[in-house]
Amino acid sequence: MPPCLCVSLLPQLGCPSFLTFSTFRDVDTFVYLCASMKNITVIGGGTMGNGIAHVFAQSGFEVTLVDVASAALDKALATIGANLDRQIKKGALSEEGKAATLRRIHPMTDLKNGVSNADLVVEAATENIALKLKIFGDLDAFAPPGAVLATNTSSISITQIAAVTKRPTQVIGMHFMNPVPVMKLVEVIRGYATSNAVCEQIMTLSRQLGKDPVEVNDYPGFVANRILMPMLNEAIYTLYEGVSGVEEIDTVMKLGMAHPMGPLQLADFIGLDVCLSILRVLHDGFGNPKYAPCPLLVNMVTAGKLGAKSGEGFYVYTPGSKELVVAERFR
Ligand SMILES: NC(=O)c1ccc[n+]([C@@H]2O[C@H](COP(=O)([O-])OP(=O)(O)OC[C@H]3O[C@@H](n4cnc5c(N)ncnc54)[C@H](O)[C@@H]3O)[C@@H](O)[C@H]2O)c1
Repeated sequence: MPPCLCVSLLPQLGCPSFLTFSTFRDVDTFVYLCASMKNITVIGGGTMGNGIAHVFAQSGFEVTLVDVASAALDKALATIGANLDRQIKKGALSEEGKAATLRRIHPMTDLKNGVSNADLVVEAATENIALKLKIFGDLDAFAPPGAVLATNTSSISITQIAAVTKRPTQVIGMHFMNPVPVMKLVEVIRGYATSNAVCEQIMTLSRQLGKDPVEVNDYPGFVANRILMPMLNEAIYTLYEGVSGVEEIDTVMKLGMAHPMGPLQLADFIGLDVCLSILRVLHDGFGNPKYAPCPLLVNMVTAGKLGAKSGEGFYVYTPGSKELVVAERFR
């Protein structure tokens, strides 16, 4: 297709007006990028997966939500319903908008059927490397050849995930933040082989969701966690070395640095096991002792004190109560 014809077709094909033929390296890339995405499959209906399904469905996409556990799917739909109700209360959504959003979400336990029609798959299953490599092998086998395969991983190498597929140019990181319907950032992570066209497509798609995407390269922790996790680890070291107490450390960072949440509370919110596993990825990936997880964090995870989700971390959490109470051991 000659470039002049391509340019004249841009509006008809629904391409954003800022794209010109010079944006594309070749005709294949042009045709590929112009094929608009309609069907999204989200793998994993937990904390992140339900939020990702929510924002895609609310933005008009048909969403298939796949989880191995049907109970997780029921819980995901209930959570999405409750979060849509919150938007209605705030006047940001109508009852009709809620019903239309829910109608666009199709829960399923079978991955093969769930991805058979996908233009884009966003994987948000449990953070476990063996599991993700297995899922991406299956996605490569069962998703249409043109589909883009994205992962919401917090820390696993996109390049390593892409390497188990036969389409590494179409594998990318799409790192949403928690809670997904509220947080504006999507960290878009380019694997070693990710093509320019796919990266551009995911940046554009993220904007269609009302998000502000930022493109980063694939190195341990990407940008968000490479900067955040050492700060949380340092806060835990500060407590471990007896420099100050839980409330005091969090208060210094809230009032002194205008952080909306102190680092110890944030670590509890993210999950101390998740923080530990990301720090290990940074430590292994860079081989630099500055990323070594604090022994107190390791002990807490070993003891099952994982933060808000387990009921205790640096604070204790009572269902139904929003009061922040420091855990007994740190009082
Ligand atoms: N929780 C966060 O704050 C956060 C933030 C950013 C990114 N992430 C990343 O998002 C991903 C999901 O995290 P989460 O907190 O939602 O986890 P979660 O434990 O809440 O949910 C994971 C879900 O994946 C499902 N699952 C497991 N194996 C599966 C499979 N083979 N096929 C389909 N579903 C499967 C589980 O049943 C569960 O419902 C992880 O990669 C995590 O690193 C998490």
